[in-house]
Amino acid sequence: MSVFFNKEENKIVLSTAKTEYIIEILRNRFLGHVYYGRKERGYEPVYEYKLSSFTPYYEDFYEFQPDVASTEYSFFGNGDFRCTSLKLRNGNGNSVTSFEYKCHRIFNGREPIDRMPFAEAGEGDETLEITLWDRVSECELKLYYTVFEDCDVISRHMKLTNSGKCPVYIEKCMSLQCDLRGDNWDMITLCGTYFRERMYSRAPMQPGNRSIFSRRGASSHHFNPFMGLCRHETEEESGECYGFNFVYSGNFLGEAELVAENGCRVQLGLGGENFGWKLSPGETFESPEAVMTYSDDGIGGMSRNFHKFTRDRILPEEIFENRPVVLNTWEAVGFNIDEKILLEFAGKASAYGMDMLVVDDGWFGAREHDRAGLGDWWENPAKFKDGLKAFAQRVKKTGMKFGIWIEPEMVNPDSELFRAHPEWTLRCPGRENMLSRSQLVLDMSNPCVVDYLKESFEKVFGDVPLDYIKWDMNRHLSQVGSDYLPADRQNETAHRYMLGTYDLYRWFKKRFPKVMIENCSGGGGRYDLGMMKYSHQIWTSDCTDPVWRTRIQYGSTLPYPVSTMSCHVSHPGNSVQELEYRYTVAVNGMLGYEMNILTMEENVLNKIPGQIERYRRYEKLIKNGEYFRLLNPCESNYCSYYFTDSERKVFLLTFVQLAADCEPSKIALKIRGASPLAVYTDKLSGKSYTGQELNEGITVETTASEERFCRMWELVKNE
Ligand code: DGJ
Repeated sequence: MSVFFNKEENKIVLSTAKTEYIIEILRNRFLGHVYYGRKERGYEPVYEYKLSSFTPYYEDFYEFQPDVASTEYSFFGNGDFRCTSLKLRNGNGNSVTSFEYKCHRIFNGREPIDRMPFAEAGEGDETLEITLWDRVSECELKLYYTVFEDCDVISRHMKLTNSGKCPVYIEKCMSLQCDLRGDNWDMITLCGTYFRERMYSRAPMQPGNRSIFSRRGASSHHFNPFMGLCRHETEEESGECYGFNFVYSGNFLGEAELVAENGCRVQLGLGGENFGWKLSPGETFESPEAVMTYSDDGIGGMSRNFHKFTRDRILPEEIFENRPVVLNTWEAVGFNIDEKILLEFAGKASAYGMDMLVVDDGWFGAREHDRAGLGDWWENPAKFKDGLKAFAQRVKKTGMKFGIWIEPEMVNPDSELFRAHPEWTLRCPGRENMLSRSQLVLDMSNPCVVDYLKESFEKVFGDVPLDYIKWDMNRHLSQVGSDYLPADRQNETAHRYMLGTYDLYRWFKKRFPKVMIENCSGGGGRYDLGMMKYSHQIWTSDCTDPVWRTRIQYGSTLPYPVSTMSCHVSHPGNSVQELEYRYTVAVNGMLGYEMNILTMEENVLNKIPGQIERYRRYEKLIKNGEYFRLLNPCESNYCSYYFTDSERKVFLLTFVQLAADCEPSKIALKIRGASPLAVYTDKLSGKSYTGQELNEGITVETTASEERFCRMWELVKNE
């Protein structure tokens, strides 16, 4: 039983394998937050009465002052001056709300969230639903907590129903609030830009509000929706660390607010700047889901909780036993799609052990360059003379699988679609639309647009033996207005855009159940749990430079399992050493290649089959193993990590040096959990180590030379 109501104490306890989350129903009115952390750590009271002129209270419950209490969810204008979970403009025109406890229920499993991605409940997972009521707006609020017991993860979302006679307007909506005690906090975020996604950043919290956000209509390259909050003394494998994340791919707001004596309030949700919603009488709104975890095994422990959760409760079932090693055409040929050359690519890639040809951008409509064709999802007979189906069949005859690129949510002004339906783009009356990569954004909030896309893909792919889709999105949303929505619902456009996009994803998966989806947004611009619900892997970044990739991948592993990282070896030149270096970096995730194999030297190409064979040997471990980070490439000149199985029989250890050192130095790479007396043999070098030696660390000597330097060890316990 993971949710338990203690009637005597009026407390609800949510338990996971190692953590506990406790809510107190205060005088049957308010929801106090008692505790979140390791099981049986001892609780602090939700509030301590302090005589102060500056903390409002209700006369009949003066001891409870919302501004200095720990609460589950906070309401605007109601005596709590910290950041707010819900702001709702009622029929009187003000936004003050006070939801009070009505009842709660506990049930097995979970209920789906309307039109949105959400984590699947496993056996034994339970949900708590708490119902609250605001008598002025006459709205009913339900707060949901689903407990994913074996993952040490709890999810949160809310549902609001207008039972009154006037419309209400949601002005800010957060899915999760967590009031953390004390002021000793560091915030970990993953921020960056195009080509530099998810750069690890850690900084002490200062009094004030620190936020991460996207106002771009996509979760974005700039801030990932993940936030970590850890103690100043927390390290990679020790100390307390909380992780928060959002199962959503559009605009979001994550806030951590430190206020003197009140601890740190964490919130995550849609926010209120690029989101608004009109709730007419009788209507219900559901927020996306946010998730949280806690570990006292440091940042690494937090990551491993999220990895397991994402693997077991979010990601779709595998389509193929092995993830196909792709050869993607983009970096080799760009828009120059020539079927004869592509068939040569396929034949050669197959001969060198690869599994799938992915035809990237440029295969459809008048798509000769990025200024035309988007939106016209029909095959171009000039490019495939016997049609796409025949081409795909020929690719398959080479022994390769067949994948193709799409970017459904976009349109070029120079396209048949735009000429026929300019009103299907996001736009605002009287304003000029702005271009980005020569394209406009389709109004995915309009069901006619989504239907058009479904019909187009049905027509173009209906009879093609497709194995894989790379689903791209190459600009952010500006002039966010919809011809489809009335004036008083324009603020809903960005969220409805996501609902339409998710609808298309769901349709695609149902219509093409055997097709694997790789998500992409100019690299990893929608690298989030929402997209992971539909895609097995995500193109991690358009940057394939191995040094920068090391940093990008490091950050990505904080919240996400490496099985989601699509990592290609690109342009090694004619250097075997460079190929090895790039390969070593790429097998931190799901391996692929992106290069012109027709022009590469044989001595380099000849190394590829061996690389793929090695990858296949440890692919399952990379996909499903436990991940430990040793050296942080955002804070040092090195990166190191290892994968291990639950029985600690295998350790796959990697060390990558980013640039030449001034002087060589020795670094011990310490493996945790090897049995001290056992012997482990490195399959790559043949050398043996005792478990004790591994625990004390394999010593690697760094280099002062400009030459690329990396090492891998495949350590297997001798039986
Ligand atoms: C951006 C992607 O990240 C690239 O890999 C490639 O697919 C291009 N779009 C094609 O336009």
